[in-house]
Amino acid sequence: MTQTLTIRRPDDWHVHLRDGDLLTGVAPYTARQFARAIVMPNLAPPMTDVAGVAAYRDRILAALGPDSTFTPLMTLYLTDATDPDEVARGFAEQVFVAAKLYPAHATTGSAHGVTDVANIRGVLERMAQIGMPLLVHGEVTHAEVDIFDREAVFIDAVLAPLLRDLPELKVVFEHVTTREAVDFVLASSANVAATITPQHLHINRNAMLVGGMRPHAYCLPVAKREHHRLALRSAATGGSTKFFLGTDTAPHARHLKEAACGCAGLFNAPFALESYLAVFEEEGALDRFEGFASVNGPRFYGLPLNEETVTLERSGVQVPELIDANGTGIVPFHAGERLNWRYLG
Ligand code: DOR
Ligand code: ZN
Repeated sequence: MTQTLTIRRPDDWHVHLRDGDLLTGVAPYTARQFARAIVMPNLAPPMTDVAGVAAYRDRILAALGPDSTFTPLMTLYLTDATDPDEVARGFAEQVFVAAKLYPAHATTGSAHGVTDVANIRGVLERMAQIGMPLLVHGEVTHAEVDIFDREAVFIDAVLAPLLRDLPELKVVFEHVTTREAVDFVLASSANVAATITPQHLHINRNAMLVGGMRPHAYCLPVAKREHHRLALRSAATGGSTKFFLGTDTAPHARHLKEAACGCAGLFNAPFALESYLAVFEEEGALDRFEGFASVNGPRFYGLPLNEETVTLERSGVQVPELIDANGTGIVPFHAGERLNWRYLG
């Protein structure tokens, strides 16, 4: 039986690094395992212009210190008022590598998001022209749509029509949670890909609701039924180059999750590779882990593969109940569990 696994250093194609003291507390966990990460722009206020994104990138680098080799890949937050020239300028100057579409009020920090994709038509046309990826939080927000259906409805109502109109647009369907999303990505052309989180590979909606309400299993999009989880596991481990690693690590202080209106998001950065690897091992797909974690993402974004390697060993690791992130107590994903693999570096 394989006792160690060595692969090219992975990248995380979807993270929330936050800001201020929390940034300093959580960013080292991502930088410890990953060479690069796509950093989400949903701060308060959101990162809606070139200068703001550049300043945020500098704060991330400062928080990690001069010895860090980690590269934050920044993103721009789209609003109804985003100017196509600003988007093209920031992309040309390599301040950001992509733009994020949050439907307004879909999730944390999305109040300034896009109310109708028709409002950003000019931006999307420009992005298609210059080959700039659009990162999509794929959920509709209409009150009448059940929260468990919001991703599937988004595909029919928004994403499929958008790609029919702009077939050249490069799209990452972020943190897919349904069989419908997997099928859609597989049936789409090569310029459509998706990230998959560890939690959506491990848990279904029972984890959130059976035996009590469990806020630490609550993220958006919410985990769905078991057959969706199984479709995601097939997608991640099945060898398609359209799926890649994106943890959606989204840390919130423990008291903000254990509340009457708890925040959405799981803090999975500290044991991200161990968590994914458990899934690949259970699926008998250890040989496909490197493609998912370290190859498919850079190929899609047109970036070089990392040359360094990392090693994990089958000795196991105990996940703590609580992690102190520079003064903020956060419950990590898998809190209190033992995982089979240990990241060595
Ligand atoms: O669970 C989530 N948390 N989903 C998101 O889309 C945003 C994120 C956050 O920023 O906390
Ligand atoms: Zn996210």
